[in-house]
Amino acid sequence: MSGPTVLVLAGGLSHERDVSLRSGRRVAEALRSTGVDVSVHDVDADLLPLLDEVRPALVWPLLHGASGEDGSVKDVLEMCGLPYVGADPRASRLAWSKPVTKTLVASAGLHTPRFVTLPQSLFRELGANQVLSTVTSGLGLPLAVKPSRGGSALGVTIVRTADELPRAMVGSFAYGDTALIEEAVDGTEVAVSVVDTGDGPHALPPVEIVTDGSYDYDARYVPGRTEYFTPARLSDEVTAEVCRVAVQVHRTLGLRHLSRTDLILDPAGQAQVLDVNTAPGMTETSLLPQAAVAAGHDLGQLYGAIVEAALAQS
Ligand SMILES: Nc1ncnc2c1ncn2[C@@H]1O[C@H](COP(=O)(O)OP(=O)(O)O)[C@@H](O)[C@H]1O
Ligand SMILES: [Mg+2]
Repeated sequence: MSGPTVLVLAGGLSHERDVSLRSGRRVAEALRSTGVDVSVHDVDADLLPLLDEVRPALVWPLLHGASGEDGSVKDVLEMCGLPYVGADPRASRLAWSKPVTKTLVASAGLHTPRFVTLPQSLFRELGANQVLSTVTSGLGLPLAVKPSRGGSALGVTIVRTADELPRAMVGSFAYGDTALIEEAVDGTEVAVSVVDTGDGPHALPPVEIVTDGSYDYDARYVPGRTEYFTPARLSDEVTAEVCRVAVQVHRTLGLRHLSRTDLILDPAGQAQVLDVNTAPGMTETSLLPQAAVAAGHDLGQLYGAIVEAALAQS
């Protein structure tokens, strides 16, 4: 007997295409193991005719970056009248923008590093040297420089001395028109995944991330470069606090089904929110599946429960 027909969307033309394909494959395999009828499709010119013809019961977009996470694919799915897994277009848009996320999170009383955004045009108009020296005197050092929208740490640089800043700006502008510059926090990096299968958002065990250098693209996807501790080596009290923060981020942005909040515990023990992902990685080395397994979940059953929840809401 086969379950509902789920169409997993994976691929797309973002910088994270490869990761998306791997996420899509893993989720499809896990769902199939529980008897769900799954197919995987790319986002290309064949997709809309296929959706029209097949009319899947549910679409699960596992697209990282650009149109996959900025709400546009969800808009299209809504126009097609098809239910899907994950945040709606509005919430996706809020979470896709790091400055918007940080502003909303701060308004909800949570902590996030102080920041400025610099569009490339303003950077040029004000003069690179002057604006960078104003930024370093305003925010101090070290700084984290990153594209205001993006993922997989692409274009992210930690700047420890002022002379490293111009190169970091160039690195960020390679991935988008606006750079976000924020205080870099030296502390313990923790990612907290949140899952909601219909009874409200629950945090999975926090994952602690320890890398030799920075938690960059390679450190994420080349097995062995990063050590993960799941659950994170935190006291019960701090664990409860980071879980509370992640659930509150999920609620504040109005997310659905699953999310992952990345945060750093600063030296004072305060959880500083860095960003939230509405389509967190689901590859073999990704954080959400690791946390789910640590919590004792069978991935097929958990993803099946997410499918059921999304179908029930449609
Ligand atoms: N303010 C910061 N302080 C210290 N490290 C940071 C800071 N911002 C980002 N990083 C590092 O860069 C990585 C990627 O940044 P993040 O904001 O999570 O972007 P994304 O995951 O969308 O690429 C983080 O996992 C962390 O290791
Ligand atoms: Mg992140």
